[in-house]
Amino acid sequence: MSVRLSHRAKAIKPSPTLTVSALAKSMIAEGIDVINFGVGEPDFNTPENVKAEAKKAIDEDFTRYTASSGIIELREAIANKLKRDNNLECNPNDILVSPGAKASIAFILLAVCDPRDEVIIPAPYWVSYTSQVEMVDALPVLLPTTMANDFKITAVQLEEAIKYLSSPKVLILNSPNNPTGSVYNKQELEGIAEVCLKHNILIISDEIYEKLIYDDNEHISIASISEEVKENTVIINGVSKAYAMTGWRLGYAAGPTDIIKSASRIQSHITSCVNSIAQKAAIVALNSCEDSVSEMCVQFQERRNILIAELNNIPNIKCIKPKGAFYAMPDVSYYIHNNNKNIKNSADLCEYLLKEYHIAIVPGSAFGAPGFVRFSYANSLDNIKQGLERFKRGLESL
Ligand SMILES: Cc1ncc(COP(=O)(O)O)c(C=O)c1O
Repeated sequence: MSVRLSHRAKAIKPSPTLTVSALAKSMIAEGIDVINFGVGEPDFNTPENVKAEAKKAIDEDFTRYTASSGIIELREAIANKLKRDNNLECNPNDILVSPGAKASIAFILLAVCDPRDEVIIPAPYWVSYTSQVEMVDALPVLLPTTMANDFKITAVQLEEAIKYLSSPKVLILNSPNNPTGSVYNKQELEGIAEVCLKHNILIISDEIYEKLIYDDNEHISIASISEEVKENTVIINGVSKAYAMTGWRLGYAAGPTDIIKSASRIQSHITSCVNSIAQKAAIVALNSCEDSVSEMCVQFQERRNILIAELNNIPNIKCIKPKGAFYAMPDVSYYIHNNNKNIKNSADLCEYLLKEYHIAIVPGSAFGAPGFVRFSYANSLDNIKQGLERFKRGLESL
């Protein structure tokens, strides 16, 4: 039977993370003790009060379709959160609740991108950005960053890159960042926002890791810089990471009325609405779970401190201290270039470490960072310590 695939389907490349995670899963199924540093979700449970609210919603038969953009009580709770945490006035009608922040980004891209529009993405980047941009027939334009610059783009770099573009439409900014943990400060955001305003480039600001931030670092929403910048920004956020609710599938977009309205219309024809029970639960998460978030942060910070200190103790490994999220991205290029195991890239290195030393880490090539690997520290301290031992031994044997 001949299967006819669209040009979109053909363009979507298999994720380089899949090889490692598929292999890790099959090894675990065989009973092998694999330490998994690949996970992109908190290892904590959803707070009890959130779960109780969901059970109540079921018992009260709150189980039907809702308004496509989300129930008004939830959109009000999101508007209150934006005011409280980000100092942003936002009309609940300018908020779209989607099945995950991932879906919010996709619907916004569908609403704003025409074929061949250019979408600027700082690299390293979260894997889905480039695929989603390609799926809407737009063109991802990667802006490289370096460890020396804390993996952040600068306003000057952005201005320079725009000179070579023909139809720059959107910048996707992600702070705190997956995979680097970098956090942009106010001054940096002001510079970037100014360039975007000057060139009429919409900012999609993915703030999903906002609450997972360490030491005295502060999350600043770029939309809070000025009213003009707010009118040029769509904020993306959700409950997955902050409240350990990845499986509930609930994220949101907040931004200019015309964009949110169009994205809502698109969503209404694709998913109708978000699961009604998750919507009720998300209200409780947003209104009364800050203690759970703080507890989670304390543990993530402790794990981060140990992971980063130990990584930097390994000869020829360099890793910056992430300021937020729960990932660390060490430079492993020395070992890619110096080994006698025929390892030529970060994917080969990850495969070797998984097969021989039973640790699953993600190759940097998945994020546009070929000389790096990504560790998630959403894992117990014991596992982190044991996994680091294996990592060290694996590198020593190269
Ligand atoms: C940077 C970034 N944005 C968005 C998401 C998606 O979040 P959600 O679970 O709400 O779809 C993730 C999940 O890994 C992420 O890392």
